[in-house]
This record gives sequence, C-alpha cells and structure tokens, in this order.
Amino acid sequence: MESGHDVRRGEAPTGNVVSLLDVRDIRSHFPILSQRIRNKPLVYLDNAATSQKPRQVIEKVTEFYSEYNANVHRTIYHIGEKATYEYEEARKKVARFIHATHRSIVFTRGTTEAINLVAYAWGRHHLGPGDEILITEMEHHSNIIPWQLVAKDTGASLRYIPLKKDGMLDLTAPEKYVTKKTKIMAFIYQSNALGTINPVKQLIQYGKDVGALVLLDGAQSVPHFPTDVEELGCDFLAFSGHKMMGPSGIGVLYASPDLLESMDPFMGGGEMITTVSMERATWKEIPWKFEAGTPNIAQAIGLGAAIDVLNEIGMDTIQKQDQLLTRYALEVLKSIPEVTIYGDSLHRGPVISFNVNGIHPHDLAQILDRDAIAVRAGHHCAQPTMNRLGVTATTRASFYLYNNTEEIDLLGDAILRAIDFLSPN
Ligand code: ALA
Repeated sequence: MESGHDVRRGEAPTGNVVSLLDVRDIRSHFPILSQRIRNKPLVYLDNAATSQKPRQVIEKVTEFYSEYNANVHRTIYHIGEKATYEYEEARKKVARFIHATHRSIVFTRGTTEAINLVAYAWGRHHLGPGDEILITEMEHHSNIIPWQLVAKDTGASLRYIPLKKDGMLDLTAPEKYVTKKTKIMAFIYQSNALGTINPVKQLIQYGKDVGALVLLDGAQSVPHFPTDVEELGCDFLAFSGHKMMGPSGIGVLYASPDLLESMDPFMGGGEMITTVSMERATWKEIPWKFEAGTPNIAQAIGLGAAIDVLNEIGMDTIQKQDQLLTRYALEVLKSIPEVTIYGDSLHRGPVISFNVNGIHPHDLAQILDRDAIAVRAGHHCAQPTMNRLGVTATTRASFYLYNNTEEIDLLGDAILRAIDFLSPN
C-alpha cells in the first residue's frame, strides 16, 4: 500500500491531501487532538460513538459554570435569567438548524431518551393488539429496545424491514411490511454500524401512505449532513448532541407542535407543571411539558455553541468533506487484500465497518491502540445487524470534519503491521 505518511517517523497528522476544509486550522480548535498518547499523536476514528469538542463548546460550558450557573425558568435574579436566556437561545439554534420552530424542540439526554419518550408518551397510549410497529434490521439497540418494551406492554407487534447482505434494506416488496396495521415506523437515517444512508424520503412516504407516524433516528445523520424536517416530512426526529461536537447528556426530540400537544407527558416532576393539587396537576405549554426536573442546562448551552461552529463551517461542506475522507479510506482499506468491508460503497456516510482475515476485531483494536489509533470494535450496539451480516463483531472506523487523509494512512499502515504481527498465515 502506498502511504502518504511514514508512521515510523511519528509525524503528527496535521496536513491534508484532499480537502475542502483547512483541516489544520479546524484541528487547532480541538484541544484533545493535539494530545500524544504513549508519545504518538492521537488518531481519533470513533466519531460514530462520540465526537470531539472544539474550544468554543468547552469555553461556553465553562462560561456557564463560571458566570451564570443557576437553575432555569424559576428564578427572578440576574444569573438565573441569563441561564434561562442562554438555554432557550440554544433551543432556538437547534430549531433553526433543522428548520423547525422552537416549540417543537424537546431537550432530552440523547437519542435513546428521545426514542423512549415517543415509545412511552405516544406508544403506550395509541398502540394495542393488532397494531404494528415497524422498524428495520439495521437499527441500533436504542431504536429496538424501546419498541420491544412498548410492544410487550400494549400487545402490539414489532416487525422488521429486512437487511440484505450488501448492507442495504430490502425494499423490493414494502407492502409486505408497511400495511394498514402499521401505526408507527421508526428507522435510522444512517446506520451506525455500516454507514449505510437509507432512502428516508421513500421510507417516510411509505409510512404516510398508510397513515402511520414516522420517527427518524438522526443520531448519525444530523451531525453530518443538512437536515430539514419540513422537507423530510417525518413526525419525529431524534438525535444526540455529543455526536455533533456538543457535550454528552444532551439530545433532542423534534415533533410537530400539534403532535406534542396531543401527547401526554413522558416524565413527571418539577418544571413541567403549571398547577399541582393533592389530586391532580396541569401541564406547562410544549415543549416544557416534556422537560421534567432540572434540565441539562450547561449541556444544552454547549450544544448551541456546537451548532454555531457547524453553521460557520457549513453542513454542505461538512457532508462533502465526509465523502472525500470516506472515499479515501475505502481506497486505503480496499488495497489491503486481507480486509473485508461491509456495506454499500455508494450510499455510505463516514463510517466503515470491516474485518481483517484471521484477526478478531478486539485484537485489532488493541493493536491499533498501541499506535494511538482509536476505533470501535464489537457489535456497535446493533446485534441484529451483525447477525444479518453473519458476523459477531467488526472493527469500525468513523470520521468527522477534523480527520485527515494522513490519519487514514496511519490506520492503513497500522493494519498492515497488525496483519504481520497477528495473522496466522
Ligand atoms: N451508537 C453509538 C455507536 O455506534 C454508541 O458507537
């Protein structure tokens, strides 16, 4: 394999061969990326699990704690009002980012909580025996388990659109799955395990045709390409702040205001009520009706700062940069005969799942870690997907705007060394 970078010299990967972005400048905003681990530069290729945070986000969170840490919506003193203002500004930023109104943005802990919110607050009131929940065999566990639980509680059936060996959904006969019994469809925009980008507009239309609600899991898509909920036409969109350079512990559920109005609360507690007597309570307006207790204030404000950075760079540019990096990484990995890549090359976001003949993914990840290369190995919280591919685990490299081709060369070189070191042949 031709490598543009000689790992043995221990050079820091800072340049870029193919790039729309000044990656060197972008990287300078991420303190963690200048770190050396065992005297090697950190090569962070686990962005599908979580992304790194730019200084702007870290500083915004620090600013909150240093200057106006107070609870929101319940104080009449200066720093409390400032905290409330910043928290609600963050909600508006999220709304603009996905082309929605701020009333349709519920802050959650992440994608998982957003999907659970729908399963509990909508599913348990609207589903019953004879109804069907339709998901796909490509979902991660966050979009499987909440539906298994709600199906068990309500007597509804859980059905799956099949996944083909090529990593794409089998949509040859959608009428077999999308029927008048389908009450809600929930599916991932971009697979976390394979990177496959699904034909979501087509899938949403299938749901609309039978009057089903549609939940789009945007955990892997919202950080990587422009999102317009009006244009998509989904009823719900769930995503996480930590995969789009925001802090962990903050996520979003989008739903149309009418739909949110029609739903009962998810969790009960302080802040989501207007009046409480011993017997009953009345709820706040949406979206606050769904935000019981003290929210993750610093995290929401940090997410707002992350969105500012994403907007400054431009989601179209980020998407194109992702594509360049992914194409380059596919070339590097395909040039190694021992590597098997899973999934489709054409409809793929910046995620590559692969295996190396004769080497368990955990062993490979450990060897890569010796070179300070961080990848994920395992089932990627998507065991049904792995079962369909006929594997128990893969190694996954996933990219974001601060990655560069030199890091991908380092990955390729390290895989070659792992093959020399571990392969039985
Ligand atoms: N769903 C996250 C991942 O794919 C945690 O790694």
